[in-house]
This record gives sequence, C-alpha cells and structure tokens, in this order.
Amino acid sequence: MSHSSILLLAGLLGAASAQLQYTSTATSAVAAARATALTLSPTSNVTGHTFDRYVQIFLENTDYSKAIADTNLAYLASQGISLTNYYAITHPSQPNYIAAVGASTFGCTDDSFYRIGSSTKSIVDLLETAGVSWSVYGEDMPYSGFEANYNNKAGANDYVRKHNPVMSYDSVTSNLNRLAKSKNFTQFDKEVAANTLPQWMFITPNMTNDAHDSSITVAGKWARNWLTPLLANTHFNKARTLVVLTFDEGSTSGTNQIYSVLLGSAVPAAKIGTTNSTRFTHYSLTKTAELNWDLGSLGQNDVGANAFF
Ligand SMILES: *[C@@H]1O[C@H](CO)[C@@H](O)[C@H](O)[C@H]1NC(C)=O
Ligand SMILES: *[C@@H]1O[C@H](CO)[C@@H](O)[C@H](O)[C@H]1NC(C)=O
Ligand SMILES: *[C@@H]1O[C@H](CO)[C@@H](O)[C@H](O)[C@H]1NC(C)=O
Ligand SMILES: *[C@@H]1O[C@H](CO)[C@@H](O)[C@H](O)[C@H]1NC(C)=O
Repeated sequence: MSHSSILLLAGLLGAASAQLQYTSTATSAVAAARATALTLSPTSNVTGHTFDRYVQIFLENTDYSKAIADTNLAYLASQGISLTNYYAITHPSQPNYIAAVGASTFGCTDDSFYRIGSSTKSIVDLLETAGVSWSVYGEDMPYSGFEANYNNKAGANDYVRKHNPVMSYDSVTSNLNRLAKSKNFTQFDKEVAANTLPQWMFITPNMTNDAHDSSITVAGKWARNWLTPLLANTHFNKARTLVVLTFDEGSTSGTNQIYSVLLGSAVPAAKIGTTNSTRFTHYSLTKTAELNWDLGSLGQNDVGANAFF
C-alpha cells in the first residue's frame, strides 16, 4: 500500500470513528470525554435582511389547539406573532428535527439511530459558507459533541440524540469542529454571560421540560420561565434577534398543526400580539434563514416553502 493510500485510509478511519466516537455512556468514558472533547463558541456579525440572530426552540408532541390553550404559551404568543397555520412534517419526532435543518426527512421514518450520508448538506453548510456562526444546544448533553442518549437521573430521560437536529448528518458528525458546536445548557449559560452566542441557534430542552415525558403545563412553564429573562438580556435578545418557539410535531391523531410563535427584538413593535395565518412548516425554518442571509438553497423542500418574513 502506498504512503498516500495509508494516509487516505487513516483519514477515512478517522472520519468514520468521529461519527461514533462519542457514544459511550459509561461513567468513566463520559468523564474522560468531558475532560477532552472540543467545545467551540463561534461568533460572527453577518448582517441579515430582517434579523441578525436566529434562535429556534423545539418543544414536543402537542397539537396547536392544546398548546395555545396553555396559560404560559398563550402569554408568550401575546408577546410576539402567533403563526396560526403552521404544520409539522410527519411523525414521529426524529424526521421533523432532520427536516428542520435539511429541508427533507431523507427517508427517515422513525426514531432509531439514523445516519445521513456525508454528501448530504444541511443548513450548517450554507451558514458556514456565508460565515454565519451556528451552534446547537441540547439540555443535559453530558459534553460537547456527545453522539448518543444520556440519562443522568435514574428512570428519567434527559438528552436524546433524536432531538438534536444535526446529529443524524454524517456531514456534521464526521467533522470534530462541527461536533464541537453541539453543546449543553451549561455552555449556553456561559456564552450568554460572556456575550459569545452565535448568530444561528437550535435549542432543545430536556425530555421533561419539552413536554415529551411530562405535560404541556410543564413545558409551558419552562418556556416562559426560561425565555423571559433571556428576552430581557441583550446578550441573547440583542438588536434584530428572531426567536421561533415551536413544537416538533402534534399528536398522531391530529392534523399535525402545531403552535409556533415569533418572539424577540426583530418582531416589529406594531406586530406584537398579532397573528399570521400564512401556511408555514418546518421547511420554513431553513427558507427563512436562507432568504435573510442570502445563503442560497439546499435544493430540497426549502425551495417551495414560505419564509416567515
Ligand atoms: C461582532 O460585533 C461585536 C460588537 O460590535 C464585537 O464585540 C464582536 O467582536 C464582533 N464579532 C466578530 C466575530 O466579528
Ligand atoms: C457541559 O459540557 C461541558 C463541555 O463539554 C462539560 O465540561 C460539562 O461538564 C457539561 N455539563 C454538564 C452539566 O454535563
Ligand atoms: C431537566 O432540566 C431541569 C432544569 O431545567 C432539571 O431540574 C431536571 O432534573 C432535568 N431532567 C429531568 C429528567 O427532569
Ligand atoms: C405574515 O403574513 C404576510 C402574508 O399575508 C406576510 O407578507 C408577512 O411578512 C408575514 N410575516 C410576518 C412575520 O409578519
């Protein structure tokens, strides 16, 4: 074997192992990775047409009618623009998260461990080309770049891979610098304090706070309590910040219409407390970022989707 093919083989093995290197949940493996795994906190200032920061937050498994009836979610809707004609893509959870960053489900129809080939792009590729900094935050991820599920407390789910929108993409997991941008809430809090949040964010609270293992009441309280101080903090809600608070999917018996509200300083004062009945879906999430920063397109369902603005 030639020297160059040995290097190539080593490169391929390195890439393949990066996709699976952070999957052990053994206490010692978690401790070792915590001490060594790379964390990156990129920032940038790419001016957008309508907003300069984009924050997407997903809660879980609730129909629009049930969510909007929750006191705290109704309160948050009154603080922004309530999107009254917004639909998830499919069931169950995982393909909706995949669609939120890739504008396709790429054939994923369940919640099992799923990998999308490295030639498939996601919004991450478009953001990086344009120099727009990005990060994903998953509450209770044991360390940055962790690639499996994590239960810190006996009998309770905390962090799950299927709710991290980028983890199914080999184009992300084969790249340690990209893995290093999937981080936990400890890191998020540090970045808020240091004023080093990126321009594009996707945030998933843990399985209790997102309603998956609890109720809409718990998730509504969490969302209001967590967002209220952040919306008052210019390290998070700096000028021209757009926050989208939504759900991955509705109940399997419904139409998959879900609650979605636009919040943050990018919402014009005159539109606070209004509704918008344009039809949106999770494909609108990528489309909105693409139009805002002139990112081009993924060539998937983003092409035909409506953008929020
Ligand atoms: C973005 O702008 C802020 C405020 O002017 C500045 O502190 C920060 O260093 C800039 N970041 C980058 C990556 O240019
Ligand atoms: C969050 O991630 C950081 C960076 O990997 C790690 O040091 C820290 O222990 C994690 N926090 C928790 C609570 O797991
Ligand atoms: C979820 O996060 C909250 C804090 O936001 C924490 O109190 C709770 O222990 C976490 N995990 C579970 C399983 O509830
Ligand atoms: C709401 O709907 C209209 C179309 O009727 C659209 O032009 C507008 O930009 C929408 N979005 C927001 C955030 O107001």
